[in-house]
Amino acid sequence: MDQNNGSVGKTYAYEIKGGTPLKGDIEISGSKNAALGVIAASIMVDGVCTLENVPDILDVHVMFDLLRSLGAKVDALDNHTYRIDPTSINTFRASGPLVSRIRASYYLMGALLGRCGKASIRLPGGCNFGQRPIDLHLKAFQLMGAKGARPSDINSGIVNLEADPLHGARIYLDIVSVGATINAMLAACKAQGKTEIINAAKEPHIVDVANFLNSMGAHIKGAGTDIIKITGVPVLPGNFTYSIIPDQIEAGTYMIAAAVTNGDVTIHNLIPTHMEPLSAKMREMGYQIEEGDESIRVFRYNYDEEVYPTSVKTSPYPGFPTDLQPQTVVLLCSADGQSRMHENVWQNRFQYVPELAKMGANINVYERIAWVNGKTGFRGATVEATDLRAGAALVCAALEAEGTTYIMNAQRIDRGYEHIVQKLRDLGATISRVNHTPEYGEEDTEA
Ligand code: EPZ
Repeated sequence: MDQNNGSVGKTYAYEIKGGTPLKGDIEISGSKNAALGVIAASIMVDGVCTLENVPDILDVHVMFDLLRSLGAKVDALDNHTYRIDPTSINTFRASGPLVSRIRASYYLMGALLGRCGKASIRLPGGCNFGQRPIDLHLKAFQLMGAKGARPSDINSGIVNLEADPLHGARIYLDIVSVGATINAMLAACKAQGKTEIINAAKEPHIVDVANFLNSMGAHIKGAGTDIIKITGVPVLPGNFTYSIIPDQIEAGTYMIAAAVTNGDVTIHNLIPTHMEPLSAKMREMGYQIEEGDESIRVFRYNYDEEVYPTSVKTSPYPGFPTDLQPQTVVLLCSADGQSRMHENVWQNRFQYVPELAKMGANINVYERIAWVNGKTGFRGATVEATDLRAGAALVCAALEAEGTTYIMNAQRIDRGYEHIVQKLRDLGATISRVNHTPEYGEEDTEA
């Protein structure tokens, strides 16, 4: 079995021999970003809960370790099912090195504030694609009565929050932020009175975290729209089971991998409406996207026909997801002509472009726009996965390429893609994990 939930700190490469059309069926795992929010939320329950469809990926294991470091009991019932008992939590502090290993550790701020009225958390790390401030998270906590939430209160990278009591508030987010929406929602569940989050993010994982919290006994309405209303409750009773939604970004990555290899793949256990921004663009480019109730088949009737160039702009859901931007640029490389990718969410998410250029891509980046000159005949090269989705893009290019590609620091890809090596092998790809060459560095923070 493909093993990708290995210990923190291991580094390795993928060796991919490209040129084989991917064919067959594939199952999508639980959503990474939903699971990270839900696991953090689980510490607010006044009992136990069981989570199903949890993806077996490194970031999730780090989050479980963070819960254990707070004193929670986390038991694996199988590889995808976990029983969490937070009643033994004995601290509101999370400031060790685990915190900076994953971005989503910032959810412990909202969850601990909700649970204990206090939180002392190290600032999170994260993929390096420009500034990643948390000012909106802190502003939300401050409006709910938390002291210590001003930027000047942050001491040696530690945020010390305390609310006595935490109360409901009207929170306007001047930028749509997934993390700030979830964090505000977490704290508001246990705050006294009503909270309104205005200009909230609407991503599928926001809805999933809200559904999970409501199953715990929270009162949240409007998740998935831009106004979320929460009435705080004193207790969140436990003893229930919740299943995480499928991973929209994993599904999109396999749709693109199928397309660029001229393959024919049916992707199961996804929610087709979550895929609409990508499906619409792929149809525009000439790919066949056949939707079932919980599946999508990607293929072409005639692989010799033209692939049309297009223009894509990332934006918050239901816009085109930034987390599919690098993989989509690989797709645009297959078009017969010039396409345009406008990255509208992150300041600097084109660092993978020089790596793709080593494989033959012809892309010019100007500020937040990449001009992608199509008809790239990718060829194998040694490249580096600079972050999770950049790595996923390189995998797509390597599967298409003539020759062998080595993707260094592939452990960054494993943080977000469950058993990717085995899943791709099942579709006919030639891919394996190999030891790193010494010149490549150590593991770092992610996502
Ligand atoms: C989440 O990050 C995801 N991470 C990211 O996925 C994803 O790229 C991002 O949402 C956007 O969809 C997780 O869910 C763990 P944001 P998050 O707050 O919450 C600005 C992946 O590959 N902003 O929605 O950190 C910010 O600079 C990862 O799986 C502020 O200005 O993103 C950005 O421009 C990478 N102040 C925009 O908002 C704040 O306080 C959106 O960021 C917060 C954000």
